[in-house]
Amino acid sequence: MCGIVGFIGNRDCKEILLYGLEKLEYRGYDSAGIALINEDGVKVFKEKGRIADLREGVDESVMASRGIGHTRWATHGVPSKVNAHPHQSTSNRFTLVHNGVIENYDIIKKAELADVNFVSETDTEVIVQLIDKNVNSGLSVEEAFRKTLSTLKGSYAIGLLDAQDQDTIYVAKNKSPLLVGLGDGFNVVASDAMAMLQVTKQYVELMDKEVVIVKKDSVQILKLNGDKVERSPFTAELDASDIEKGTYPHYMLKEIDEQPFVMRKIISQYQDDNGQILLDEDVRNAMLAADRVYIIACGTSYHAGLVGKHYIEKFAKVPVEVHVASEFSYNMPLLSEKPLFIFISQSGETADSRSVLVQVKEHGYKALTITNVPGSTLSREADYTLLLHAGPEIAVASTKAYTAQLAVLAILAVDVANAKGIKLDFDIIQEFGIIANAMEALCNDKDRFDMLAKEFLSTTRNCFFIGRGIDYYVCLEGALKLKEISYIQAEGFAGGELKHGTIALIEDGTPVIALSTQEHVNLSIRGNVKEVVARGANPCIISIRGLENDEDSYTVPAVHEDFTSLVTVVPLQLLSYYAALHRDCDVDKPRNLAKSVTVE
Ligand code: M6R
Repeated sequence: MCGIVGFIGNRDCKEILLYGLEKLEYRGYDSAGIALINEDGVKVFKEKGRIADLREGVDESVMASRGIGHTRWATHGVPSKVNAHPHQSTSNRFTLVHNGVIENYDIIKKAELADVNFVSETDTEVIVQLIDKNVNSGLSVEEAFRKTLSTLKGSYAIGLLDAQDQDTIYVAKNKSPLLVGLGDGFNVVASDAMAMLQVTKQYVELMDKEVVIVKKDSVQILKLNGDKVERSPFTAELDASDIEKGTYPHYMLKEIDEQPFVMRKIISQYQDDNGQILLDEDVRNAMLAADRVYIIACGTSYHAGLVGKHYIEKFAKVPVEVHVASEFSYNMPLLSEKPLFIFISQSGETADSRSVLVQVKEHGYKALTITNVPGSTLSREADYTLLLHAGPEIAVASTKAYTAQLAVLAILAVDVANAKGIKLDFDIIQEFGIIANAMEALCNDKDRFDMLAKEFLSTTRNCFFIGRGIDYYVCLEGALKLKEISYIQAEGFAGGELKHGTIALIEDGTPVIALSTQEHVNLSIRGNVKEVVARGANPCIISIRGLENDEDSYTVPAVHEDFTSLVTVVPLQLLSYYAALHRDCDVDKPRNLAKSVTVE
């Protein structure tokens, strides 16, 4: 969480920093700030709220060609102007932005900085005060920076300015993402290439516990012990237009609409010239060697993992367990003899998942990451990667990444089934084409979902989603989507489970959204709907062509029974979207959340 940017070069950088921070708002948006350095010294501008609020407070007349900036998701201390970054040392010599969490900040404060008067409640302020103290003890700034970093426990991506040296931005990274971008006569720093695409596509990746001395025409990477590191830059395969909303009112709606395109893109990426599924041979062999697959993920990616379990067990006949990363990390179950770990993560940066990956690697187990972000931490640190090819997902609520995750998991399962000679009753490439068309039809029916959202969700306090089998897994995802952007208390349940307690919450008019796409449980789920209706619920049944009934609120186009999740999730995404609009919620930036959860 939190995003940082920096610029050092040949032109005024206020707008570059502010624009970059806007592109990083998905990482946190409760307060923001920039620091500019020129011959008059360092000027800091901070505000509680969004980058738009910060913009209003920045003095247009200050010209500076060096600066750093930050957009915050609060961990230590409430969102406020005082707690917003950049933070300065008491002497005002050093100014710093930080993304991450310093676990031992309190110990450092008491042991080394007892005489310092701290102004904020943040863990970050400890870093800048300690650098100042170390410089005062006689070290050079670079030495003091490296010494301070060696003292820190936790995660950090840091940008540091020294008021006595206008020609350098000091940068460091551990566990939090950070890139240095290269330009002609300037260099930049950013948590994500998206922030600086307007000025460069050339980036240097940084490894954990590296320090970078960034000047306008040079970039020097060092290890914490001062050893020099050489690394070639890479070109970001992103286009500035990929990250714009275009004519859409919200990124979420744009990303929902992109799903048919993403399905077709995935087909093309995982297909050979003969129209057969094509997967990295190493990934296939790792799957074939495993006696059990452990899927580790969080939030929406965890929900995708549940559907992935269905694919892998049913098609490839490999047993699968799906675990929430934050639990697995501290409560590892008894493992099989030859486990393969699959990490599912849109961002590839989720701290809870990474913490499991670190443990898995310590045990010497193999790991595959399924992610949307090439070069992300989880991708780099796993043995294998499968990419989602979904394009940047910017709305906090994950939509196209979820369907892309299902698609890639299905391809993986089918590929392993093929390798084992297991006959399947479908051609996945053909099925994906049908699914893409069905998604398109649903996206073209937005008015209907707007009306349903108005009818069922515009004023309700709570909402239940029920389904059985893979419909149940989609219900979990539908409920998460609804609660995170509309703040309606929403829960997904297995259809048969509600009567074991939760049915007590059903009151007159409580909306219950039921999915029915599986023939073998169609009658049972409809029976469960009758049970809640008898207690006053307002049912919204979403069925599939072939199983529809007069009482249904919506029927999605027919697709193969094993792949209905790829289609039924679209109405749930759109219902959530319109519910949030009807309730005047900020769709793309819901309260308390951030897109990339880089703290445990
Ligand atoms: O980047 P990841 O897929 O690892 O993120 C995991 C969750 O934080 C994420 O899916 C979250 O639940 C979404 N905001 C849900 O829409």
